[in-house]
Amino acid sequence: MAKALQSLLFYLITSACMISLMFAQDQFEYYDFSKANLSLDGMATILPNGLLQLTNNATKTTGHAFYKVPIEFNTSSSTSAESLSFSTEFVFAIVPEAKSRGQGMAFVVSPTPDLSHGGATSYLGFVNITTNNKTDTHILAIELDTNGSADAADINDNHVGIDVNSIYSIQSANASYFNDTNRKNDSLLLASGKSILIWIEYDGTNKVLDVTLAPVQTTRPRFPRSIKPSLPLLSRSINLSEIFLEEMFIGFSGSTGTITSNQYILGWSFKKGGKAKSLDMSKIIDPPTPPLPQLPPQSTTLLTERLVIIISITSAIVVLMIIGGVMYLYQKNKYAEVLEEWEKEYSPQRLSFRTLFKATKGFKENRLLGAGGFGKVYKGELPSGIQIAVKRVSHDVEQGMQQYVAEVASMGRLRHKNLVQLLGYCRRKGELLLVYDYMPNGSLDDYLFNTQNPKSLSLSQRFHIVKGVASALLYLHEDWEQVVLHRDIKASNILLDANLNGKLGDFGLARFHDRGMNIEATRVVGTIGYMAPELTAMGVATTWTDVYAFGAFMLEVVCGRRPVDPDKPREEMILIKWVATCGKNGVLMDTVDSKLEGNFSAKEAELLLKLGMLCSQSNPENRPSMRQMIQYLEGNASIPDISFDTYEFGIPNICERNNETGTTQTTTSSLANFSYDTVTVLFGGR
Ligand SMILES: *[C@@H]1O[C@H](CO)[C@@H](O)[C@H](O)[C@H]1NC(C)=O
Ligand SMILES: *[C@@H]1O[C@H](CO)[C@@H](O)[C@H](O)[C@H]1NC(C)=O
Ligand SMILES: *[C@@H]1O[C@H](CO)[C@@H](O)[C@H](O)[C@H]1NC(C)=O
Ligand SMILES: *[C@@H]1O[C@H](CO)[C@@H](O)[C@H](O)[C@H]1NC(C)=O
Ligand SMILES: *[C@@H]1O[C@H](CO)[C@@H](O)[C@H](O)[C@H]1NC(C)=O
Ligand SMILES: *[C@@H]1O[C@H](CO)[C@@H](O)[C@H](O)[C@H]1NC(C)=O
Ligand SMILES: *[C@@H]1O[C@H](CO)[C@@H](O)[C@H](O)[C@H]1NC(C)=O
Ligand SMILES: *[C@@H]1O[C@H](CO)[C@@H](O)[C@H](O)[C@H]1NC(C)=O
Ligand SMILES: *[C@@H]1O[C@H](CO)[C@@H](O)[C@H](O)[C@H]1NC(C)=O
Ligand SMILES: *[C@@H]1O[C@H](CO)[C@@H](O)[C@H](O)[C@H]1NC(C)=O
Repeated sequence: MAKALQSLLFYLITSACMISLMFAQDQFEYYDFSKANLSLDGMATILPNGLLQLTNNATKTTGHAFYKVPIEFNTSSSTSAESLSFSTEFVFAIVPEAKSRGQGMAFVVSPTPDLSHGGATSYLGFVNITTNNKTDTHILAIELDTNGSADAADINDNHVGIDVNSIYSIQSANASYFNDTNRKNDSLLLASGKSILIWIEYDGTNKVLDVTLAPVQTTRPRFPRSIKPSLPLLSRSINLSEIFLEEMFIGFSGSTGTITSNQYILGWSFKKGGKAKSLDMSKIIDPPTPPLPQLPPQSTTLLTERLVIIISITSAIVVLMIIGGVMYLYQKNKYAEVLEEWEKEYSPQRLSFRTLFKATKGFKENRLLGAGGFGKVYKGELPSGIQIAVKRVSHDVEQGMQQYVAEVASMGRLRHKNLVQLLGYCRRKGELLLVYDYMPNGSLDDYLFNTQNPKSLSLSQRFHIVKGVASALLYLHEDWEQVVLHRDIKASNILLDANLNGKLGDFGLARFHDRGMNIEATRVVGTIGYMAPELTAMGVATTWTDVYAFGAFMLEVVCGRRPVDPDKPREEMILIKWVATCGKNGVLMDTVDSKLEGNFSAKEAELLLKLGMLCSQSNPENRPSMRQMIQYLEGNASIPDISFDTYEFGIPNICERNNETGTTQTTTSSLANFSYDTVTVLFGGR
């Protein structure tokens, strides 16, 4: 019996291997899209659990995912039926944002994989106002439209359509499927957040395109194969040789309007010239309910494999129980976490310590990326291949933790290309772990200040980084649902991606340190030299105090030195003072980083210096807002004239401290043991 099962298993494995060897380029099947050869743009991204996410929270934006290898179609042959036949099957889920359903998505066959010019909103990302209705567009799209638009003559808010070169469907129908049990059409809500299976099949002989939908059975275990309805929803005679070119790309396009939805692809199979492999429903994982990724599911085992496992378990049960018991106690201790009742609602953002432990190979020293005032950061890799940075922050008190975790959960929903994405968190006794996207080029201060291993960065690269950081800060201050303060902007908190784009990191960590322990004392957190005078005096962080820090950061970037540098001669020690003096004497360019050796655009340098000074004014209300800042940086507005004589600059209070007679008990570090680490400033304590 066992022997027979073993040979059956062997046969299954070998045939599976042979099938995968036979995989041609015009035939594939994917459940984990991190393994797929896709080109992504816009909002499209692959989640840590392997799901393909086409669209998210961002309004009026598009997302595309195309299979990189072109499919060859023989459009000149009018006889060979196979030459144009194709078949595809995919599972999608459209998770609505609040009550709105978003715009929708489409399966697209296009002569180019680059549809980044596609329009958002009702254009669904595959055509735009100029390409719409043009025969040289050569696009076939099957739209899954969740918001009917009068512009596109849509029938309603929940329909499927066949589109040729246009958003006007040549045929469309309310989303539904033919139920073979009662032989009726059952309607189906596309934007229900549930998984739906769709078949798109073109028969080159009869020149008929069929589109069929069916819901995926929601309870587990799912049937290995979903049953395809015997009647298609759409069936249209269409001559694709009039539309297709010899080389076409296949993929997905989605868009959002003023309302958005999270659209996911959970599995996809395709074949040219025949029937695509049926997707295995047991491998389809549930679509995420909130936007953050969940961990990969346990791999499902074949029935035969299970039997073999059961047999071996029965024979070795005693041994296993003993080993298991010991292991259990050991592992339980090793991977112990703190999980409280109130945390249940944040479970999607929660990653297990076990996963993080494995991802970082046990927090090995050679995985250490850095250590700062807040704790150590390790590099890791999730099972899906996504690279992460794990920050371990230790703390003494649990007080305020619930509110802080709520903030972490809400920060996980922030999405901006210049913000380091927070992927999740984990909590252990006395310790919080935060998981971020890994940034291959490290932090900006390493570029500016590392003397042992100098890396150069031209002024225009620096300018580009500053612009990126400014747009992220604008998003935090004005464009998100609530005002988010960063509280600790400085070069060491700016990370660089592979293309040297600046990304703002560590947001909210300052907040974490500003609660806890001594609740009687008001405390602010920040870094000396970047803290606005009113922040250290009154302890109230505002968008203006962020702007002050951003100004200090701009000066730091253009001058290649820190705001306060005790090693410099007295007159140069405080950067703002020095820049003001040089500005007064008409030698402003003397302050620019000497490492640039004069190779820079004086215009860019001057703009950064003047903006930096504009932000450094002592009266917060005179500082520009981040929206104005973007306009200055983009050159869309000219900056007000700066007179270095009359402006009153907010000098970091470190130098004036000695003369201070006020009652505040500010405890900043003294110059002797000066540090660039984030510090906590206590005052008003009893
Ligand atoms: C992001 O999604 C959440 C719901 O998950 C929603 O409440 C919030 O408004 C969205 N944010 C943006 C910027 O649209
Ligand atoms: C991915 O697509 C590119 C572009 O066509 C191709 O050069 C490359 O070989 C493909 N890689 C795999 C693993 O199929
Ligand atoms: C396309 O089909 C025609 C007619 O069947 C054939 O002569 C030609 O070689 C084919 N082209 C390619 C690239 O396969
Ligand atoms: C369709 O979009 C409009 C605005 O673009 C919105 O007001 C409306 O609620 C949407 N409809 C649905 C069903 O989401
Ligand atoms: C429309 O798309 C084409 C290419 O796909 C692009 O050249 C054109 O600029 C786009 N038009 C608009 C108005 O975005
Ligand atoms: C595009 O074509 C559709 C149907 O053929 C027509 O109703 C519509 O007016 C056309 N739109 C434009 C902008 O040409
Ligand atoms: C399609 O749905 C709309 C409502 O959204 C309904 O008025 C219409 O009758 C439906 N059409 C068919 C053919 O069921
Ligand atoms: C078809 O309809 C029957 C009876 O209404 C229902 O029990 C069954 O779940 C439906 N089948 C599917 C696949 O939805
Ligand atoms: C179900 O829908 C299909 C396609 O829209 C249509 O051809 C068919 O007549 C409908 N069947 C019933 C029983 O309504
Ligand atoms: C399909 O279009 C091609 C190219 O325009 C043409 O040669 C062929 O005759 C058409 N076939 C049918 C069945 O209309």
